[in-house]
Amino acid sequence: MDLIIKNIKELLMTEDKPRDFVAGAEMSVVNRIQNAWVAIEGERIAGYGTMENIPNTNCEEVDASGKLVLPSFCDSHTHLVYAGSREIEYTDKIRGLSYEEIAKRGGGINNSAKKLRQTPEDELYDQALARINEIISKGTGAVEIKSGYGLDPESELKMLRVIKKLKETTALQIKSTFLGAHSVPLEYKGRQSEYVDLVINNMLPRVAEEGLADFVDVFCDRGFFTVEETDRILIAAAKYGMIPKIHANELDFSGGIQIGVKNNARSVDHLEFTGDKEIEALLSSSTMPTILPGAAFFLGMDWAPVRKMIEAGLPVALASDYNPGSSPSGDMKFIFSLACICLKMLPEEALQAITLNSAYAMGLENDLGTITIGKRANLIITKEIPGLEFLPYAYGSHLIDTTILNGKLITKN
Ligand code: NIG
Ligand code: FE
Repeated sequence: MDLIIKNIKELLMTEDKPRDFVAGAEMSVVNRIQNAWVAIEGERIAGYGTMENIPNTNCEEVDASGKLVLPSFCDSHTHLVYAGSREIEYTDKIRGLSYEEIAKRGGGINNSAKKLRQTPEDELYDQALARINEIISKGTGAVEIKSGYGLDPESELKMLRVIKKLKETTALQIKSTFLGAHSVPLEYKGRQSEYVDLVINNMLPRVAEEGLADFVDVFCDRGFFTVEETDRILIAAAKYGMIPKIHANELDFSGGIQIGVKNNARSVDHLEFTGDKEIEALLSSSTMPTILPGAAFFLGMDWAPVRKMIEAGLPVALASDYNPGSSPSGDMKFIFSLACICLKMLPEEALQAITLNSAYAMGLENDLGTITIGKRANLIITKEIPGLEFLPYAYGSHLIDTTILNGKLITKN
């Protein structure tokens, strides 16, 4: 053993028999051990138990008296590689313009595309690295990052190469997603189907050839890409082994959920517009419904009907959607609070949704998301706090004391 954390007030999310995800009523049941230890060997969790049975070792020790230990947060949906920021549109929104109105007049995603196309790869990497370091200090241990601000072949490849470099140079577990169909670029205005052809015939094969994407995404919603276009892109991507994780039902009952399920999507994300038909489709699938409350909060939109989904027996994952337009924050502890306060999730349900279920949403459930022997030792040690509920309750407080990634102490805040 290399490291042992002892005297832990409460060790959360222990799991002897690993499950892929947790659904329905089970989401409110979190396994926990009071007065616990957890041991790490190399990059992996080597054991855990109560202090009465702590093994005798002379390895490095961390005392966690009064503190909680939990798996690090998994953020299964972000766009954190982007150039600059969009606070001007933010003030336009305060003045009353909607997200769609801003997009229509060349703002929104196309505004970020303009900035990204002008930004060299190394500068883009530096900006993203600063965001990565920030989310690590806030407890994130795994993140999915999408392209989708390039919107031309060279710029999409540039974004994906930056994500690849982040994978190689940071301690986070990173999954990459090709989102060429995020928005129609200005130069293709009025020629949307030609742009879809470009995504399918030019971008997809090149992304696949360089092995740059684990997943494929489409913004399937009113005013963006249609169900038919989404289907074409997902079928083409499947030939290259790219699994879908799509943006669906953020702006309308778009059919995005159903087309995602049909194409065996790993996750469908946003889901503010989810009714009985969508729930029925999800129940017969292995697709993870993923909610992004940061975007609904920032845009002042309706909340996804999460209680209805959990009560129907569905699993739910949560992610930050970290992006410059609709959710400029990757703070998963704040997402935890929004889930409890605005989506009415119990702290236990929200904890499962930001750890195991979000690990599943990015295909990392065998490696992360629970305290299980053999899983990667990506852990959070909190400050001294009364209990789990205090984390979402104290929504503005920085309560993370130490993060451990790959078995190594990374930050001591
Ligand atoms: O997930 N909904 C689509 N895409 C992003 C927003 C991107 C942007 O506005 O830059 C989202 O909210
Ligand atoms: Fe998004």
